[in-house]
Amino acid sequence: MTDVNTTPEHTTIPDVSALTLEEKASLTSGASFWYTKPIDRVGVPAIMVTDGPHGLRKQREGGDHLGIGDSVPATCFPPAVGLGSSWDVELVHRVGEALGAETSIERVAVLLGPGINIKRSPLCGRNFEYLSEDPVVSGVLGAAIVRGIQSQGVGTSLKHFAANNQEDDRMRSSSDIDPRPLREIYLRGFQRVVEDAQPWTVMCSYNRINGVYASEDPWLLTQVLRDEWGFDGLVVSDWGAVNERVPGLAAGMDLEMPSSNGATDAQIVAAVQDGSLDESVLDTAAGRVLDLVRKATDGGGAVAGPLDVDAHHALAREAAGRSMVLLKNEGGLLPLRTQQSVALIGAFVDKPRFQGAGSSMINPTRVDDLPLEIVAQAGEDFVFQAQGFSIAVAPDPAEVERLRADAVALAAKNDVAVLFLGLPARLESEGYDREDIDLPADQLALVDAVLEVNPNTVVVLSNGGVVALPFADRVPAILEGWLLGQAGGGAIADVLYGQVNPSGKLTETIPVRLEDTPAYLDFPGEFSHVRYGEGLFVGYRWYDARRTEVAFPFGHGLSYTTFSYADAAAVVDADGDVEVTVAVTNTGDRAGREVVQVYTSLPGGAVQRPVRELKAFASVALEPGETRAVTLTVRRKDLAYWDIRLDAWVVEGGEYVVDVAASSRDIRSTVPVTVDGDPIVLPLSRTSSIGEVMAHPVVGPMVQAAIAQMMGTMDGVADIMPEGVDASKMMESFPIGRAGMFAMGDSNGAINPEMIDGLIAMANAPQD
Ligand code: BGC
Repeated sequence: MTDVNTTPEHTTIPDVSALTLEEKASLTSGASFWYTKPIDRVGVPAIMVTDGPHGLRKQREGGDHLGIGDSVPATCFPPAVGLGSSWDVELVHRVGEALGAETSIERVAVLLGPGINIKRSPLCGRNFEYLSEDPVVSGVLGAAIVRGIQSQGVGTSLKHFAANNQEDDRMRSSSDIDPRPLREIYLRGFQRVVEDAQPWTVMCSYNRINGVYASEDPWLLTQVLRDEWGFDGLVVSDWGAVNERVPGLAAGMDLEMPSSNGATDAQIVAAVQDGSLDESVLDTAAGRVLDLVRKATDGGGAVAGPLDVDAHHALAREAAGRSMVLLKNEGGLLPLRTQQSVALIGAFVDKPRFQGAGSSMINPTRVDDLPLEIVAQAGEDFVFQAQGFSIAVAPDPAEVERLRADAVALAAKNDVAVLFLGLPARLESEGYDREDIDLPADQLALVDAVLEVNPNTVVVLSNGGVVALPFADRVPAILEGWLLGQAGGGAIADVLYGQVNPSGKLTETIPVRLEDTPAYLDFPGEFSHVRYGEGLFVGYRWYDARRTEVAFPFGHGLSYTTFSYADAAAVVDADGDVEVTVAVTNTGDRAGREVVQVYTSLPGGAVQRPVRELKAFASVALEPGETRAVTLTVRRKDLAYWDIRLDAWVVEGGEYVVDVAASSRDIRSTVPVTVDGDPIVLPLSRTSSIGEVMAHPVVGPMVQAAIAQMMGTMDGVADIMPEGVDASKMMESFPIGRAGMFAMGDSNGAINPEMIDGLIAMANAPQD
């Protein structure tokens, strides 16, 4: 088989017109688990695609046919749950470059990521692979990863398109979503990445959306993705996502993966031959596969090996240090001082959880040893260790007691107890969802037991999805460590001892209880339908609208220094975007980074809106005492809502409230800005309300005058209206087509169907 490993660079890939019908069809499904099909006759090589997203999972030659076995060692960077918490476009881009370099060195054409689905419920088993509950965070950081990876001459696969927000029943379930949340929450991030970073491929998801499989949805794959967003790459199916191949091809699903062993290629050939599929549809899909092969061969081997394992490990450590979120730090317990003796407690000290299970699992080049890293900072004489709890499926109760007692005794003897708690790997994975958001009971019991003997207790968490923190009021310091990749051990030591000042912030809310979460009543649905009943109110949009108490809000994260904000201002620039400026000062005595957030709202707007929505953010590095003027751009298009009457984005005019904030619940400054709305004129019909007719720019003034005159002649209206109410208010919601029957007084008979139709025609006539 010819493949990119052996093909000389600059091979000329033929045009689709050079291929036979069978050859074209053969290109539209995989040759094997990871390869496309070659066509040796005309020199089309096979190209290889592999997972992703936070490292390269390239199966060794001769691995198992399912493609899930051992893979070549690669750097395991922090999964999205960690990296996203950096909110740092530049860092994320650099990690993308490193991922792209490893992909290129291994002669892989496309890295299958990033995954940017919205974290709708904390129960989704795959949340560790996703960036945020917010589409601006997902979109901006997703675009940075794509740009970074693709800068190395290899491609990405933006996944899982779309509305794949749970694992339960993922291959059939229909995500039933109203148009506004679908556009404003679930598609918005994908739109941003497609428009800003042009991923080589988009991977359609397994699920259905409003009853239609993503893999055969012409609205999703062609109308939205290509016609509206301008995507010109290739759509690949998630592995096994194809339901009906021929309708899928016609919908815009170009490449089926993995192999169908030729079965679906034959269906395509038959459909062309019997006239049920236009050959031009096949030409388009096969042409896109050829385009991808062309890009891959052009970029092939752009990065020469060998992999600089140390340099990438160092980057993984830097990224992991920036991924942690300091949730709480009462009394400045952190950073630890080197002369303090510490008890390291927890099963995760020796067995770190640093990535999630499933298709994204990387075979790391090395894994940091946490105790060694702590000893390197604190010195051997100050570090002690106890297991504290078991992560076995059904540990022996006597063993649990013994582990706890040993840990408590150790905690009592030392200056500080650092508890490494978290979710055992089996509790979260691709392929199934969690049943609750609780840490195991024996870990919670351990926290209380340790606190009784040592108030200087720090909790460090390892988890891919958020967990409830019932001890949050009692434990003085909590460091959310997510899953940090292979260099997590060194990075945790860096943060605990202050070599790195924590700067991560939450890209998802930590709720108090599962019952408080937005999708609680609608997750995971029933009979293969999941109703997104919370609508637009996902994540902080929900908690803020309902004023629900949360454990830690979206956007929250502390530092070992402090920051002040001053002189916030917002103006509309020449492009119609809103430029927000604010002076941020590091008011403490050590260098640090602050993630500045900008939220907007439009009180009294015409449509339902969250209390505030994130529109821009920036990660700013500041030396002690340093002040920087930070400029953040709120793009005009991000102010738009999806108008269901027009099926289009609309920016509503008015005075927007701009919140400059350190978290969604720590607003430092609020400034107004007046934004001009998009001119919208809705066509009138007989069902248009009198209010809508009165507001119409062409016929409105005339109708207003007529109604005012009519009101003046109507007897008895005053008797049925409360005092002080304008009688015309009552009429505003009458459909104009039915107005005649209510007309009274002098107007009786004057409002007739012909007159109404004339008015509608006048309103709808093209205006100069
Ligand atoms: C996952 C994808 C992955 C693919 C290939 C699927 O089950 O959903 O994210 O890229 O397998 O491993």
